[in-house]
Amino acid sequence: MYKKLIIFSVASVLLFACNPEPNPKPTDLSEEYYSGGKLGTTFNTTAAAYEQPTPAVEENADMAMRFKYGEAFFEKEFTTNADGIRSGLGPVSVRSSCITCHPNYGHGKRMTQYRANDYGNGYLLVVIDENDNYITSLAGMPQTQAVYPFLPPIDESGISIDWREHTDEWGNKFADGEPYSLIYPEVSITPAAFNVPMPDFYKVRLEATIGIYGTGLIDAIPDDSLLAQYQKEKALGYFQLNDAKYDPANFILENDGTRHPGRYTYGLTRGTLQNGPGANAIWNITNVTRSNRSYNYLDLAFKNGAATSLYATAMADNANIQATLGWSRDSIYNYLTSTNLKPEMSDKDYQDFMIWHRGVAVPAARDVDTKEFKHGKELFSSIGCAVCHRPKWKTGADNYTGDTLAAGKLPRYPYQTIFPYTDLLQHKLFMVNDIRTGWCRTTPLWARGLSQKVTGASDRLHDMRARSVIEAIMWHGSESSDARRSVERFRELPKADRDAIVKFIESI
Ligand code: HEC
Ligand code: HEC
Repeated sequence: MYKKLIIFSVASVLLFACNPEPNPKPTDLSEEYYSGGKLGTTFNTTAAAYEQPTPAVEENADMAMRFKYGEAFFEKEFTTNADGIRSGLGPVSVRSSCITCHPNYGHGKRMTQYRANDYGNGYLLVVIDENDNYITSLAGMPQTQAVYPFLPPIDESGISIDWREHTDEWGNKFADGEPYSLIYPEVSITPAAFNVPMPDFYKVRLEATIGIYGTGLIDAIPDDSLLAQYQKEKALGYFQLNDAKYDPANFILENDGTRHPGRYTYGLTRGTLQNGPGANAIWNITNVTRSNRSYNYLDLAFKNGAATSLYATAMADNANIQATLGWSRDSIYNYLTSTNLKPEMSDKDYQDFMIWHRGVAVPAARDVDTKEFKHGKELFSSIGCAVCHRPKWKTGADNYTGDTLAAGKLPRYPYQTIFPYTDLLQHKLFMVNDIRTGWCRTTPLWARGLSQKVTGASDRLHDMRARSVIEAIMWHGSESSDARRSVERFRELPKADRDAIVKFIESI
């Protein structure tokens, strides 16, 4: 089935090519088709394009089998059972499965309400104080689900998302008069929705999912290359960069004691896949313990078993919970905050999950040999988009050994040329109701053009405010934005050129 799909999609690619060669094989294609390199690209461009194993996984039968086992932990719901498959959900959780937030392995879609069970609601709630610090009585990823009789820290019926119109300084018109429209979310939570103590002032933002595919390839880029990219943009002299992230003292600490600069998430909070957003989410989204995470994910005040949990205190003091469980106040508190809980996920299951995670392929680029693609690519670079959306990276020897549970067992991608279209650095675009702190990693653009086909939606930007590529670009354009110059040039281009850039972005 997989082989047939390769032949089919290469044939359809060549229909549009300028100089089709007879009997094409994938090896005859120019390197830009291989978004994830030879070891990391799939030529499946169907609705299943985001969930294919990489060639590096497929060439090893044992790994291919473990990939299949591992993907179930991403796709299926966890249960509140005490044992059996995928047990251990709760006592509080953000969602019951990864895929609810990462629909069909893609990024989430724009939502008009926040419901944990809505498939494709990839939103994390970001609840912060006036200085953009997280509220310590909530988890960094606040939960809205709980196992009875416990209460979630936030009752989601009290959350509202209102979409407002925004008019930019050009009156939402290109230089040739063509109009576009911009909308952004205003999110609020009523004080009565909180089951934990809250300060008087708090504000709420949304952060939407990024894709899963290709994060294994990003993992294989050497730290030195990230630091060199930072130095290179610093030397340009016209960007402000988040310098603190590149002070070695602030690098992210791994299980094996090594430190790495951030490369994942909008906030650049994760430095390796082995201690990355997925490795953490399988514990903190579901609250499923494992051998090296033997405690619950609760509020930030409690973090990693230290100090007093404000959430556990609120639950332990609740007379209804005491009566329903028939437990004393202290038993409830001690149960929730125990740092010695029995593992709910086995080490073997965790390894399978990580093999799957590092093994998801990037869909190949489409239409690379067409005139429009080449024209769009040229403009993308000449108006300055490619400075931040860096097309090409090279992976290193890929010998990372960090997490002892997974070290040496995962698929590897040495010396691959890949095309993620990101500098893996943060920039400030100064949008109204912007992301927490304003610093946002440049989102990889690879394969997002397949999103409509794979997930049924193609919204973009960190909170899915952009309903199209055009809207995403125009949100880069505020006066203090580091992308301002490139947007000024974009809006002055003739329509055919703007369309070519959009077509290029949808094809990479
Ligand atoms: C609540 C919804 C939600 C669930 C459930 C969820 N994620 Fe995410 N995920 C997000 C959001 C939001 C981001 C972007 C977050 C950020 O930048 O802080 C993200 C980012 C990621 C990334 C980073 C991609 C990148 O390019 O940096 C990976 C990988 C990932 N998630 C994997 C997983 C896995 C694996 C699971 C299941 C164990 C999972 N996620 C469950 C919301 C979710
Ligand atoms: C100063 C750096 C910078 C420049 C220059 C820049 N971008 Fe971006 N781009 C970003 C950042 C940062 C994001 C993520 C913003 C967010 O989600 O809030 C982004 C996001 C995007 C997205 C949405 C990605 C997604 O699917 O969520 C598109 C499309 C995009 N840029 C296209 C362009 C184009 C086209 C240009 C040139 C006109 C351009 N960018 C110039 C930094 C830049």
